Amino acid sequence: MYEKNRPIGLLDSGVGGLTAAKEILDILENEKIIYYGDTLHLPYGPKNLDDVRKYVKKIVRYLIEEWKVKVVVLACNTATSAALEILKKEFSIPIFGIIDSGARKAVEISKKKRIGLIGTQGTISSMAYQNAVRSYDIMQKIYAEPCPLFVEMVEKGEFTGREIEKTAEKYLQNLIKNDIDVLILGCTHYPYLAPVLKKIVGNKIKLIDPSLEIAGDLKKFLIKNDLLNISPHAAEHQFIVSDIDKIYQKFLVEGRKFLKLDNLHFVEDNIFTEY
Ligand code: DGL
Repeated sequence: MYEKNRPIGLLDSGVGGLTAAKEILDILENEKIIYYGDTLHLPYGPKNLDDVRKYVKKIVRYLIEEWKVKVVVLACNTATSAALEILKKEFSIPIFGIIDSGARKAVEISKKKRIGLIGTQGTISSMAYQNAVRSYDIMQKIYAEPCPLFVEMVEKGEFTGREIEKTAEKYLQNLIKNDIDVLILGCTHYPYLAPVLKKIVGNKIKLIDPSLEIAGDLKKFLIKNDLLNISPHAAEHQFIVSDIDKIYQKFLVEGRKFLKLDNLHFVEDNIFTEY
């Protein structure tokens, strides 16, 4: 009973992983979420993966020790690329990455076997998606493009507008030329930009949001292991960041609408004081 009613821990470098929190809460309404956004070290994308691994390890330990979470979801593709395998070995509670679920879905729906991938530099160079896709189907071709400016735009609460469209057109042009039929949004910040991205790629290219897939996988896991929260009390989620000054007012306004979390607010808990 105690195990079941513990919260689910989620982490990201900033507000990106909230797109995964949204999908999880959509299908697991009774679960309580403890979210940690490492805004002090954002962005993770251009950083050395060893540093990202160090930050992520620290957050996972904090979620387990301070918040007694029952599972952890790395709601960040860069964190998954850098740390998933090591974390699984080091911690005894279940830890989910976000990459495998997205890769599996892309393979499932690509008819042309030509998959586009956008993500951070760290995720793309790590080859984590490329390897995951090929583990499902060796014949798939993957075309990847890092989109570093998107993370900054989303953190500022800029989800639409001409500047984003122009940036997205530039990032996506080569992928479109390569005749892809699915596009993996390989960074949890990108679903906020999905309306703009959809407009640019058109109807023939399907967008894949790995958050949707991970939410489904998590639900199956909780059911199978009898870990669904059965507490009758309304869940009080916690949204924690390592540096609250990095949260933009405009994000709070736009993010609340996008995520349908009217009460979204953040508290600061800087667990990195020794760095
Ligand atoms: N949202 C993160 C991801 O999914 C990382 C963004 C960043 O910090 O660069 O990769």
